[in-house]
Amino acid sequence: MPDILYIDGRFTTTDEKVLSVEDRGFQFGDSVYEAIKFLNRRPLLIEDHFRRMGNGLRELEIRSPWTRDEFLNLCDEILSKTAFSEGLIYVQVTRGVSERAHFYPDNLEPTALAYTRRVPFPDPVKKERGIRAVTTEDIRWKHCNVKSVNLLGNMIAKKRAQRAGVEEALLVIDGEVKEGASSNFFAVREGRVITHPSDSRILSGTVRDRVISLALGARIRVDERPVRDYELLRVDEAFITSTTQGVMPVGEIDGRVIGNSRRGEVTGTLQKLYDTLERQQAGMGALEA
Ligand code: PDD
Repeated sequence: MPDILYIDGRFTTTDEKVLSVEDRGFQFGDSVYEAIKFLNRRPLLIEDHFRRMGNGLRELEIRSPWTRDEFLNLCDEILSKTAFSEGLIYVQVTRGVSERAHFYPDNLEPTALAYTRRVPFPDPVKKERGIRAVTTEDIRWKHCNVKSVNLLGNMIAKKRAQRAGVEEALLVIDGEVKEGASSNFFAVREGRVITHPSDSRILSGTVRDRVISLALGARIRVDERPVRDYELLRVDEAFITSTTQGVMPVGEIDGRVIGNSRRGEVTGTLQKLYDTLERQQAGMGALEA
């Protein structure tokens, strides 16, 4: 069934062909995107997503199509037209349409679109059992802080993980684990949480940043430093964070069991805190114990 699509000021559905072949997003990946979870028809961490998108647009010198209020209104409007109450809003802004050339014209009219998608979020069994991962070389460009649609490096890594029969690829360069192909990576050692600092070699996740705040609020120490690849053998727990996965335990990396392979204590605590925050943002009641 087609979903509701917003493009350049009007609403249609995802079965309409809406893009020019000379849209720079299509030809050059000259574009940023966001994937925003909604629950109970309410978008989650919406200010964080808008801020990150604004930073990416500024870095690429693409004009923002929306003020904050216009963006919040658009999300409300699209959710009011959507037939389901939980899923993702996918938002993409490209530099716009111009005759194909590497030089980009200044002040192009950006292409702005958003649509909703039904996606299966992990169920309680999956959230307890967790996922498995493999490590692979990080072959991406050096501005990973920009959530650009240039995802070849991520895609290739993800396919490698799928071929190895696991769910996520951990991207390693110079002996350091940077992040997952579509998530941020955390390790836990002796009760302390370790995760890569927010710099240009990772996409600083909206969930990552919240989980760090929640950990600090729960008096869990957080070290923002890269996990070395050889340390992976010695960590007590590992987990990833992302919009679609929330806080998801990692029970196995490169075929080696992490901790006792089940969701660790710190991971469980943070998962619960994050799920509670999501439900609060969605205006839903507390989780049953
Ligand atoms: N993944 N790092 C990368 C490379 C990502 O693609 C993502 C998001 C993250 C986590 O960011 P956030 O917490 O804001 O979702 C980190 C997509 C959206 C996902 O699989 O959910």
